[in-house]
Amino acid sequence: MPVKEDTKTLEPVAVVTGATRGIGRALAEEFAKNGHALVLVARNEARLAKEAEEVRAAYGVATWAVACDLADHDAGATIEKALAEHGLYCESLVNNAAMMTAGDFRDQDPDALVKTIDVNLRATIDLTRRFLPDMIARGAGGVLNVSSVEGFMPVPYHATYAATKAALISWSRALAYEVMGTGVRVCMVAPGVIETDIHETGGAENSHYARYIPKMTPERLSEAAYRRFKHGNWVIIEGWLNRAFVTLARFVPGYFLIPTSGWFFHVRDDDGKPVEPKPLPHPDARD
Ligand SMILES: NC(=O)c1ccc[n+]([C@@H]2O[C@H](COP(=O)([O-])OP(=O)(O)OC[C@H]3O[C@@H](n4cnc5c(N)ncnc54)[C@H](OP(=O)(O)O)[C@@H]3O)[C@@H](O)[C@H]2O)c1
Repeated sequence: MPVKEDTKTLEPVAVVTGATRGIGRALAEEFAKNGHALVLVARNEARLAKEAEEVRAAYGVATWAVACDLADHDAGATIEKALAEHGLYCESLVNNAAMMTAGDFRDQDPDALVKTIDVNLRATIDLTRRFLPDMIARGAGGVLNVSSVEGFMPVPYHATYAATKAALISWSRALAYEVMGTGVRVCMVAPGVIETDIHETGGAENSHYARYIPKMTPERLSEAAYRRFKHGNWVIIEGWLNRAFVTLARFVPGYFLIPTSGWFFHVRDDDGKPVEPKPLPHPDARD
């Protein structure tokens, strides 16, 4: 496939979504450390601008910021347009941004559930479809998808979030096969529990998994993810405990795996007591 005429003199960048905090911030720094110019994406414009400035000063690479909400269906077009306006092309795409929705399914806000699918899955597929063909035409570059160990098992109380992560694993591995021999890599990193804000913003800070499973730093995860992305590993799992969880999930029967996962992920109050679902009136008793 020929490179598009008008992209021949463009400058390569790594586009990192969800780059203002946690794993995305650490991944952006890892790419910058290794000499990649960056386009940073998140919603908070002020925080993005500050980070773009800090990364530029620390690592001497060019940085651009694109503030947008990946739940919006036009976010992909906004990012693509911003790259074109600045004379850039996407050499590496890091699909990292995600929303976590924790709690009993019947109590969850329907809009938040749909947004979770939009940010975690739809935006990832949309961005990849926009940028991957040019990577293939150039015979270089790659896509790094951030999934989760949760994607390897059903996770009660994170049911929708974990399902988006499971879909990402399936999709990413299938794409990795499709691009074999093109010079482009599609890789998926599945973090375990990482020290970031997502547990609190998702309402899961008191869950047993967040309290008792040892947390890895975003920096350690990102160093391993970048290194193995460069090697083209299809599936990247850092840490022996996370590899053990994934292996167990493959062999432990569902009747044991699902209740155990439910026990770890149940949303709890400050005293560690499980938050019970709100009682629902019988449909015949409603007005
Ligand atoms: N932390 C863990 O234990 C863990 C474990 C497994 C997998 N992961 C995965 O790792 C990735 C990063 O997680 P994290 O823990 O670093 O999360 P985090 O600390 O909550 O950071 C999320 C990042 O995504 C951005 N973001 C959130 N919603 C967005 C939206 N609608 N549009 C655009 N940007 C949005 C946030 O910035 P703004 O708020 O400014 O938009 C922020 O930069 C996610 O894919 C997550 O599922 C995390």
